[in-house]
Amino acid sequence: MDKFVIAGGAALHGEIPTNGSKNAALPALAAALLTAEPVVLHRIPRVRDIRTIERLLVDIGSRTEVDGETVRLHTPEIVCPEAPYELVKTMRASSLVLGPLVARCGRARVSLPGGCAIGARPINLHIFGLEQLGARINQAHGYIEAEAPQGLRGAVVQFDRITVTGTEDLMMAAVLAKGETVLRNAAREPEVVDLAALLTKMGARIEGAGSSTIRIEGVERLGGAEHTVIPDRIEAGTFLIAGAITAGDVTVTDCLPEHLGALVSKLQQAGVEVTQPDAATLRVRGGGRLRSVDMTTEEYPGFATDLQAQYMALMTQAEGIAIIIETIFDNRFMHAQELARMGANIRVEGRQAIVAGPHVLTGAGVIASDLRASASLVLGALVAKGETVIDRVYHIDRGYEKIETKLARVGAHIRRVE
Ligand code: EPZ
Repeated sequence: MDKFVIAGGAALHGEIPTNGSKNAALPALAAALLTAEPVVLHRIPRVRDIRTIERLLVDIGSRTEVDGETVRLHTPEIVCPEAPYELVKTMRASSLVLGPLVARCGRARVSLPGGCAIGARPINLHIFGLEQLGARINQAHGYIEAEAPQGLRGAVVQFDRITVTGTEDLMMAAVLAKGETVLRNAAREPEVVDLAALLTKMGARIEGAGSSTIRIEGVERLGGAEHTVIPDRIEAGTFLIAGAITAGDVTVTDCLPEHLGALVSKLQQAGVEVTQPDAATLRVRGGGRLRSVDMTTEEYPGFATDLQAQYMALMTQAEGIAIIIETIFDNRFMHAQELARMGANIRVEGRQAIVAGPHVLTGAGVIASDLRASASLVLGALVAKGETVIDRVYHIDRGYEKIETKLARVGAHIRRVE
């Protein structure tokens, strides 16, 4: 298992480019199942989760051709409408093939995702929505089997809690349903909007993506399309925090600042200088006194749960007490204990973590537990005194493409050890 060895203390200086969004690419790849015509997707990050869903799509019947960050998919027919446990257990987002498979061929057999490091992550709302659209659902042996031999029919789906991939799954199911579907209390994330843009290029009729009510008028069939996915706001946010925590001067390019409003506001409240040189760039200059600022994670446009761990690392260096409340997942503070082993003063009480600072971090051997927790350990290691060894960095590789190369290019002393 690969490790990262990081010698802390270097202030980062320079430009870091942003990759395409993993969480926009995953539903976009799944959407290719909805048509028998070719779909071309650009700016697909070469991260582990993408390779996982590409393997799944090939097993289902897609011909995929990867050329750098461009993926060409062609699914003339669905050969095997299944998502097996072996794949789903490694990546919960495999459930994104559920909606497209039922819409395209009237059936799907998808393994229920087990729990994962950040908490129980059921897909009951995905299933509920499909039932509302007329699918018959059977659960057995850890799988759900959905059938709609006569096709799906439009309906009103009221989510009792906001779910990002649930909204995406149901949007993809509804585009080929007979009649109109209304998704209420839908997720408003930029990745949902980006998926709607792709589906519209394929011929779907969707209104309201980005708001909490999305209307989809079903069509007979969808055609092929070419689409470039949006930049990864979580990767960009991680690098902004890297610039702040090392008191450096980091410019993140090829991003969409409007997707990072909540983080930028928090950084400015904490005393970090954040500027926007142009429409696709954000620049942070640290070095001033960092102030502790409370933060509560919320669905978009609130503060992203996927940046909570990274923000916690920053708050270990801030003056005062920061109360961080995690409202989206029920177990997303694993990084707190690892940061504490590096010297941070963090107390976890249920859904809140109380971070007292500033506390000097010292290098230690730590273990990555999930994708974003791992990123927060990298950030802690960048500012820690001495050397940190982070084990199980495959977690990081799921969502960050060559993070060590990008950070080393702006002055971090980080190397990957096989
Ligand atoms: C998406 O996961 C992201 N993944 C996650 O990013 C992100 O943390 C999350 O949204 C929240 O923003 C992708 O887009 C591939 P949810 P998703 O359904 O859709 C509960 C990363 O680091 N829930 O919005 O799985 C659920 O347990 C990953 O890139 C149900 O109860 O999240 C959670 O508590 C991690 N029943 C809450 O809703 C359901 O049917 C929000 O989950 C679905 C969800």
